[in-house]
Amino acid sequence: MALELKPLKIGKYTLPIPIFQGGMGVGISWDRLAGSVSKTGAMGIISCVGTGYYKNSAFIQKTIKHRPFDTINFYSKESLFEIFKNARKICGQNPLGANILYAINEYGRVVRDACEAGANMIITGAGLPTNMPEFTNNFPNVALIPIVSSAKALKILCKRWEGRYKRIPDAVIVEGPLSGGHQGVSYEDCFKKEHQLEAIVPQVVEEAKKWGDMPIIAAGGIWDRDDIDRIMALGASGVQMGTRFLGARECDATYYNELMPKIKKEDIELIKSPVGYPARAIVTGVIKALREGRAPKIACVSNCVAPCHRGQEAKKVGYCIADGLGDGYLGDKENGLYFTGANGYRIDKIVSVQEIIDELTRK
Ligand SMILES: Cc1cc2nc3c(=O)[nH]c(=O)nc-3n(C[C@H](O)[C@H](O)[C@H](O)COP(=O)(O)O)c2cc1C
Repeated sequence: MALELKPLKIGKYTLPIPIFQGGMGVGISWDRLAGSVSKTGAMGIISCVGTGYYKNSAFIQKTIKHRPFDTINFYSKESLFEIFKNARKICGQNPLGANILYAINEYGRVVRDACEAGANMIITGAGLPTNMPEFTNNFPNVALIPIVSSAKALKILCKRWEGRYKRIPDAVIVEGPLSGGHQGVSYEDCFKKEHQLEAIVPQVVEEAKKWGDMPIIAAGGIWDRDDIDRIMALGASGVQMGTRFLGARECDATYYNELMPKIKKEDIELIKSPVGYPARAIVTGVIKALREGRAPKIACVSNCVAPCHRGQEAKKVGYCIADGLGDGYLGDKENGLYFTGANGYRIDKIVSVQEIIDELTRK
């Protein structure tokens, strides 16, 4: 039996629908997707990754062969402001979030940019954001939401935040290894029972109780209302979904609408990434090119993530993540990098955000 989906209170905000659309970069969840999700009363999240690509790089100072040059242009403040402005035209003053990976270069600056651009919540994964509150001092109403993959990670984070900043997260996202994009655990651990979402949610719920009133939002492999009900019964107060929205008409990276209905289960794999964590992607575009020995040369134009050390890791894994995701956004089918969750093959038709939300909220 379907449980009632209750509104979700996070910091100063109340979401009528406790569903987050996960941040997806480059350019998958920008103004159109995030704005359309927030308009429904669910939570739209703008990805801050690769904003320099927005509108053919119209808002940045310098490109090299159509690629945003260096960190300042790749994570462009001016473009992010435009994205927020245009998303607000769709969702008005409903809460809008910003997703910022901890592993990026200039993390603190981008968090500040997002607050100034009007983000109501900041969501950070890909690393444990132990100093996140430092960058939001001037924005006391902005809710801070880290993504963790274990109760241990939440404990370390809360200890640090409470000790240093006298605050705890406003909510926490717990992400299991069926999710799209980067994973929080090693390749081998992604397959172990003890790291699956059903195993980690109750542990994170228990840990959170020790620190105060912190809603838990579960992510990774959630597809339909049965999945939502199952995970809520384990103590989650909300869910975050990414892959499902790759089949939304409002998806900002339009090639996904063409690609997703065509892929099969065996086209989805965990691959190595220059970020240092495994990532789930579709074996097409640059990953296929890599396997066939024709991947593009790595030049590190955009200087995107710290763990890559200016292209050193990219050279080891054989592709540049910024270039791959950027090309994916631009619709370059040969060189694009396309992330998806394990459920990606289940998208059989493209529908509107409202239709997805209606299906998920129907009792
Ligand atoms: C194409 C794609 C890109 C993603 N990019 C990011 C990202 O930039 N930052 C992030 O924190 N999570 C990213 N994610 C993870 C999603 O935000 C979300 O947590 C996850 O997809 C949930 O699992 P699901 O895809 O099974 O619904 C991405 C996921 C997908 C499918």
